[in-house]
Amino acid sequence: MAVSRPSLDYWPILPEICIRASTKSIKIPSSYLQFTNLQNPSNSRYPILRFSLDSSKTPTGPPPLVVVGSANADIYVEIDRLPEVGETISARNGQTLAGGKGANQACCGGKLEYPTYFLGQVGEDAHGKLITAALEEGGVRLDHLTTVAAAPTGHAVVMLQSGGQNSIIIVGGANMNCWPVALSDSDLEIIRTAGIVLLQREIPDSVNIQVAKAARSAGVPVILDAGGVDAPIPQELLDHVDIFSPNESELSRLTGCPTESFEQIGQAVEKCYKMGIEQVLVKLGAKGSALFTQGEEPIRQPIISAAKVIDTTGAGDTFTASFAVALVEGKSKKESLKFAAAAASLCVQVKGAIPSMPDRESVLNLLHSRD
Ligand SMILES: Nc1ncnc2c1ncn2[C@@H]1O[C@H](COP(=O)(O)OP(=O)(O)O)[C@@H](O)[C@H]1O
Ligand SMILES: [Mg+2]
Repeated sequence: MAVSRPSLDYWPILPEICIRASTKSIKIPSSYLQFTNLQNPSNSRYPILRFSLDSSKTPTGPPPLVVVGSANADIYVEIDRLPEVGETISARNGQTLAGGKGANQACCGGKLEYPTYFLGQVGEDAHGKLITAALEEGGVRLDHLTTVAAAPTGHAVVMLQSGGQNSIIIVGGANMNCWPVALSDSDLEIIRTAGIVLLQREIPDSVNIQVAKAARSAGVPVILDAGGVDAPIPQELLDHVDIFSPNESELSRLTGCPTESFEQIGQAVEKCYKMGIEQVLVKLGAKGSALFTQGEEPIRQPIISAAKVIDTTGAGDTFTASFAVALVEGKSKKESLKFAAAAASLCVQVKGAIPSMPDRESVLNLLHSRD
């Protein structure tokens, strides 16, 4: 069989597919296959992936996960107490790590070996280079990462005080400034050809709205993680979101309802339905998660217990991004929840956000060990 080399140079990690023709078997990397995006009969909005061999066209690969959002340098300082006005104190320790909810979620997709693009902005500085390197190492495609001259890379100073109290100062920088009034044709194109678009709330709402509208117009599902700026969510954004994903406190803030019991969470989700959101993926920390779909019974997913919980930073980002990856791969909602719970369980066992995000093999091993 004549198969032309694909023009794309990425994702050699997809398994080779073995075609057996009488006595001969030919190994064809799956990146040579044509993937088509079919409508899922169980839910007309969500695509299911199918592939067929087609040597006449240049293969395009599976429709990517496109994460649009923030990239941050998180500057951690360990101190005994906050300095007084005019005082200089020494920190016990300090560390600067790549982060930001957008970059975190993109890295999670990349580490799970799903074709993932990050669309975001950094400044022309060392922090921008740190984030770019972390994304690259995570296997994320950076064609839509823009370096802007007029703003610093977004950063956060996280003051970890003894006694477990944290004080955080955020500089929005390139996450909040220098966005074009209208996204470029090339940015809009990658959004329209995505399998799923993933958003959070650490970039201007106006950008998220443009992205969500472009995705919706092309039939691409949009997941909005509620994490980030704690400000009311514009209705125009909610109108173009397919799955809204808050944790219990974000859900409470948005709806004004308590979210301590599962019953209360159900009532808060009812309020989301009234705002026009049809699906709500609630993250409940050690109580697990639940996916609510209007008109259906909620699907509950308990945590997959971790041998030891070291650091829950990034657990929410890992959960949302892994859920998106599983869904775009055509897994059912139930399977996608389980996949996300396994990825998040591995995340809480390692310090940091991006460094703690698991690879695909580790997630599959954990799931198989529980079969
Ligand atoms: N102690 C834990 N053990 C195992 N998994 C956990 C634990 N804490 C959180 N998780 C997983 O991480 C997911 C996201 O964590 P959560 O705290 O709900 O998100 P967020 O970081 O947004 O507040 C949970 O739904 C759960 O699957
Ligand atoms: Mg939490």
